[in-house]
Amino acid sequence: MRKPIVAGNWKMNKSLAEGRALAAGIVEAVASYKGCDIVVAPTAVSLAGVGEVLGDSNVRLAAQNMHWAEGGAYTGELSAAMIKDVGCSWVILGHSERRQYFGETDEGVNHKALVALKAGLTPIVCVGETLEERESERTLQKIELQVRAALASISAADASRVVIAYEPIWAIGTGKTASSDQAQAIHLEIRKIVAEVFDASVADAMRVLYGGSVKPANIAELIAQPDVDGALIGGASLKVESFSEIAKIVD
Ligand code: G3H
Repeated sequence: MRKPIVAGNWKMNKSLAEGRALAAGIVEAVASYKGCDIVVAPTAVSLAGVGEVLGDSNVRLAAQNMHWAEGGAYTGELSAAMIKDVGCSWVILGHSERRQYFGETDEGVNHKALVALKAGLTPIVCVGETLEERESERTLQKIELQVRAALASISAADASRVVIAYEPIWAIGTGKTASSDQAQAIHLEIRKIVAEVFDASVADAMRVLYGGSVKPANIAELIAQPDVDGALIGGASLKVESFSEIAKIVD
């Protein structure tokens, strides 16, 4: 059985003080939940401070990005060792906002995933189609390309530690959620691709999250789908109530 995941991506929101308060509220609200992995991804400057608040609770710390190099002349970047050093055990890679605004490529995301796995981090690799791609029926083509590229050169032994987040770009921050049927259909396709790249046991073990306007009102239907293993949540992860309500339903 795949353990579901409830991950909050805070994006470029919350000061250090606000982030620590949010983390403290979440820790308290979800303390008794054991059935899912709960993860929060604050901004880079709040990682250490939020990590302190999480302490040895059941809430894990994720970075929103990292660089593949060990160190050196990469102004503005953070290495895997650096994010681990401040308490991260997870990292979000290739979010569509990073691809769209910061030029991240499939090759770069793959490079980062390889490095994250080597460092013992759990990568959440994001994939998803634009509205235009969906309307011109190129969704599967896009997803297949992104998934295959992200998994290139990853060993079968490491592959089941990779988490894929399917985030249709048209559903991010728009209030439009993919229907649970739409999400299930793509998640199933992702699992088929993973089975082709590796084998059925890796595909069975790999967790595939849905992201895009997830909220307490739609998570039950999404998580009821056989191939939806949790959610990567933006807006609704910024409040203790909505995030912990989602975690409660998934748990
Ligand atoms: O990483 C999270 C996703 O981009 C979803 O964001 O829940 O605000 O639509 P959202």
